[in-house]
Amino acid sequence: CATEFEQGTLSGQQVCITAGPTREAIDPVRYISNHSSGKMGYALAEAAAEAGAKVTLISGPASLAPPPRVELVRVDSAQEMLDAAEKQLGNCDLFIAAAAVADYRPASVAEQKIKKNNEQMTIELVKNPDIVATVASHPQRPFTVGFAAETEKVIEHARGKLERKKLDLVIANDVAQPGIGFNSDENAVTVVSADDQQRIDQTSKHKLARTLVELIAQRLKPNN
Ligand code: CTP
Ligand code: CA
Repeated sequence: CATEFEQGTLSGQQVCITAGPTREAIDPVRYISNHSSGKMGYALAEAAAEAGAKVTLISGPASLAPPPRVELVRVDSAQEMLDAAEKQLGNCDLFIAAAAVADYRPASVAEQKIKKNNEQMTIELVKNPDIVATVASHPQRPFTVGFAAETEKVIEHARGKLERKKLDLVIANDVAQPGIGFNSDENAVTVVSADDQQRIDQTSKHKLARTLVELIAQRLKPNN
């Protein structure tokens, strides 16, 4: 089912991609975060640029070099990622949310390093804004693609996210499978849309990114 990679299928399109984890500060030296190397998002940015798109990559902390011809916007927290995404919205035809955004952040950030004075401690967390859902509900809505990292009922949960967040496509990722996802160089996914689902077998994130870019390009309406 792999679609051949073709150059130029996204020429003239502006693409925004979120990638990597976010960091939510607890105090000046500590944070809450997610497992994420950023590799999938960076590979998508590279593939989209190779397909002729003008790409902005909004990245949380990741130790990867930005791909050639890609504009990199570095952010730390989910709120900063949302602000950066909203800034791009006016000129974005396609938005791909590959970031592993922290769902919660500490309700307050301690000004000084918290000392280990107690046997137990509790940190109160509040929900972060949902970046891809915010983008998808914007009046100048780009074609919006999300990921779904799941450990069970992968397709069911992915379809739930497609509907709830009003996304055009969800790339469903079974993160419980050994050898794929997170820090791995390989991944296997199912691309879920309202009327269809398509499995892409395990391959390098580099090849997968090219296949995904082609699939997405086919679905982008002309002049969208
Ligand atoms: N996402 C986002 N902003 C958030 C949380 C998630 O933009 N605050 C995006 C991710 O980048 C991904 C998609 O939403 O494209 C799904 O992320 P995921 O963590 O799988 O789903 P959640 O909606 O956060 O639900 P849950 O973690 O409860 O499964
Ligand atoms: Ca989440």
